[in-house]
Amino acid sequence: MNFDEIRNQIDELITLYIEKREESKTFTPVENKVQYAGPVYGPEEIKAMIGSILDGWFGVGKQARAFEQEFAAFLGVKNSLVTNSGSSANLIALSALKANEFRRKLEPGDEIITQAVTFPTTFNPIIQNGFTPVLVDVDLGTYNPNIEQIERAITSKTKAIVILHQLGNPNAMTEIMDLAKKHDLIVIEDTCDALGSTYDGKLVGTFGDMATFSFYVAHHMTMGEGGAIAVNDNGLNLICRSIRDWGRACACPICEVVKNPDKPCPFKTKSGILPEGYDIRYVYTNIGYNLKPMEFQTAMGRVQLKKIPEFIKKRNENFNRLLKTFKDYEEYFILPESLPKAEPAWFAFPLTIKDSAPFSRRDFLSYLEKRNVETRLFFAGNIIRHPAYLGLNFRTVGSLSNADKVLRDSFFMGIYPGISSEKMGFVTETVREFLKEV
Ligand SMILES: Cc1ncc(COP(=O)(O)O)c(C=O)c1O
Repeated sequence: MNFDEIRNQIDELITLYIEKREESKTFTPVENKVQYAGPVYGPEEIKAMIGSILDGWFGVGKQARAFEQEFAAFLGVKNSLVTNSGSSANLIALSALKANEFRRKLEPGDEIITQAVTFPTTFNPIIQNGFTPVLVDVDLGTYNPNIEQIERAITSKTKAIVILHQLGNPNAMTEIMDLAKKHDLIVIEDTCDALGSTYDGKLVGTFGDMATFSFYVAHHMTMGEGGAIAVNDNGLNLICRSIRDWGRACACPICEVVKNPDKPCPFKTKSGILPEGYDIRYVYTNIGYNLKPMEFQTAMGRVQLKKIPEFIKKRNENFNRLLKTFKDYEEYFILPESLPKAEPAWFAFPLTIKDSAPFSRRDFLSYLEKRNVETRLFFAGNIIRHPAYLGLNFRTVGSLSNADKVLRDSFFMGIYPGISSEKMGFVTETVREFLKEV
C-alpha cells in the first residue's frame, strides 16, 4: 500500500468508529446526564487532527497559519492570532498595552474599566500587567454594563475598557466605541462566549482595538483547548505575536532566513547592544510567554469554523425553547434580555431568581441536578468577592448590588448543539415539574 492508500484506510476507519459510537448513544432520562456543554464534532474533525499528526509537524505550522487566515476572514478583520486558550488571548492582549513598541502604551497604575460580573482570566491580566481595574455594575437580564455605568467610571486616569459579551449577549458596541473615541480609550472585547453574535449588524469582536476568543470545549466552536485574538492594527498584531512567541522579534510566518540563507533578514533590531548580525530568531523585543497551541488543535478548529452557522442556529433554537418555558414563570425569574440592536449567538440561558420567589437557587438547582440536568453558576458572579482578590487595589463605581445579586441568585442552563430535541423536552418538563409544586 502507498501512503495515500493507508491514509484513505485510516479515514474510513475513523468514519466507521464515529458512526458506530453515535449509533450506540441512547438517552434515558434521569439515568443519563444532560450536560450543559460539550464538544460537538464528527469524523471530519478527527480526520483533520490525525492527518495533521501524521504530517509530522506538531508545533504551530501550516494548519495554524491557515486557521488564522480563515478566522480573520470569517470575522472580516485584518489579522488573527491563534493561542492555546482564551485566557492566554486575554493575557496577550493586556500585555500588549504596555509593550514599548505600542504607540498608545499604557503605564503602571493606568485605569481600565471592566464589569464586576466577569470571568477570572478576563479580569486577572489587568492586575497581572500592573494596571488598576475599575469595576462597574451590570444590568440584571443583560448581565452587561449599560453605557451610563461605563461613562460614570471614566476619569482622567482611564486608558482602556475591557468589555465582555456576557454569555453571548452583545454589549452596546457602537455606543461604547463612540465613548472610547471621545475619551481616547483602547477597547478590548472579550468575545470568548460570543462568537457569531452581532450588534448593529456587525459581529462583536470586530469593534474594538483587539478581541479575544476561546475554543475550549464549552464554546461555540472548539479545538479542545484554544483561543484567538482578532486585531486590525498590523503593529499591534506583531506585538501580540511576539508576546505569544516568547517575546521574540521575528515576525515572518515562515522564517525568511531559513527559506533564503543568503538574503539578509528583512527585520532589523533597534538595539545597539546586541552583537552585529545577531540571529533575529533569538532577539527579544517584548517580555513574552509561550502561549501557542499545537498544530493538530488548529486543524480541528478549521473544520469547526465551517460549522459555526449551524451550531449557532441550534443553540438559539434551544435558547428559545427555554425562554418559552420560563416565560410562564416570570413571577419567579428575571429572564434573559438583549439590547434592541443585538442579535446574540447565545452561549447559555441565564436566569436570576427574584427576591420574591418562594424557593432558593439551591432548591431549584439541586432539583435539576438530582434529575441529571446540569446547570452552572454565573462564573465568578461579583469577582471581587472571591478570596484571591482580597486586598487588591481597585476602584468600584456604585455599590455593585446587581453583581452581588448575580453572585447569590443567578445561574445558567445549557443550550449547546449536543442537547437534542428529546433532551430539551426532558429539561423543560423537569423545570415545569418543579415549578408547578411551588
Ligand atoms: C468570558 C470568558 N473569557 C475568557 C475565558 C477563558 O477561556 P479559556 O477557558 O479558553 O481559557 C472564558 C472561559 O470559558 C470565558 O467564558
